[in-house]
Amino acid sequence: MGKLDGKVCLITGCASGLGKQEAIRFADEGAKLVICDIQEEKLMETKRICEERGAECTAVVVDLASREDREHFVEVAAEKYGTIDVLVNSAHYTTPLQPILAKSLDDLELEYKIGIEAYFHLMQLCWDYMEDHPGYGASIINFGSKAAREGTIGHGVYATIKSGAGAMTRVAAREFGPSNIRVNCIMPNGYTDNCDEGLKKQPPEIQEWAKTAFKDNPFGRAGDPYDDLAPVVVFLASDESHWITGATIHADGGVYISD
Ligand SMILES: NC(=O)c1ccc[n+]([C@@H]2O[C@H](COP(=O)([O-])OP(=O)(O)OC[C@H]3O[C@@H](n4cnc5c(N)ncnc54)[C@H](O)[C@@H]3O)[C@@H](O)[C@H]2O)c1
Repeated sequence: MGKLDGKVCLITGCASGLGKQEAIRFADEGAKLVICDIQEEKLMETKRICEERGAECTAVVVDLASREDREHFVEVAAEKYGTIDVLVNSAHYTTPLQPILAKSLDDLELEYKIGIEAYFHLMQLCWDYMEDHPGYGASIINFGSKAAREGTIGHGVYATIKSGAGAMTRVAAREFGPSNIRVNCIMPNGYTDNCDEGLKKQPPEIQEWAKTAFKDNPFGRAGDPYDDLAPVVVFLASDESHWITGATIHADGGVYISD
């Protein structure tokens, strides 16, 4: 028996990176998946893998910066299943990490649209299909980052956006709780091929910093997205976490340890 048997789960950003491994892990736990990403070919590869593992999986090509695309994503799920049990706001788009004074407002706006507006809007859109589920209810998981707490140089835009994801989570937890919907924020660490690709676009000093940053935890190794991170996302999606809401969970091997 899977931990997510029969649950209708929407996950964003599943073409690659953490979102892809979350989708595969959810498939292994019996979820009915509706996944999205802007990268069509890679998204379809994730769908194929999930189906091979026996899951129902619908893949929708979506630009999360577009309001219409977000609406379409939720409509596809609602038309197919009539209900939504889990929303995982995993996708993000990171623009080059630069000092605040060097950063363009266009980059700020783009990250805002994907990392704040899309998270916020998808929570609104899914609410109608999550409200007052019987039993342990429905679950929303938003992706933040320890960058929001650390004030790391060069992370001005990213940290601002990720901090917002935590703040909206706490408000939503209080507002949605009476409707039996819990809302939590996960601060992950998991190294993927995407990190290599993303780092190529970053300034040399950031590339140097990243060589050690991903292993800078008590275990001295980078997290594996499927084995280390995705089970925590499954836990927050499953009924086992039904008494947790408004929490920020660091699933990062102890990269961030603080009060
Ligand atoms: N990887 C880590 O260790 C780490 C650490 C801290 C926080 N995070 C957060 O975890 C989440 C997942 O991380 P990741 O490393 O897999 O991120 P990523 O940036 O590598 O991948 C995110 C996915 O989102 C998709 N995407 C980007 N723009 C999109 C758009 N406009 N519309 C639809 N899809 C779009 C990408 O195509 C990609 O498949 C992100 O929110 C990230 O900020 C990750």
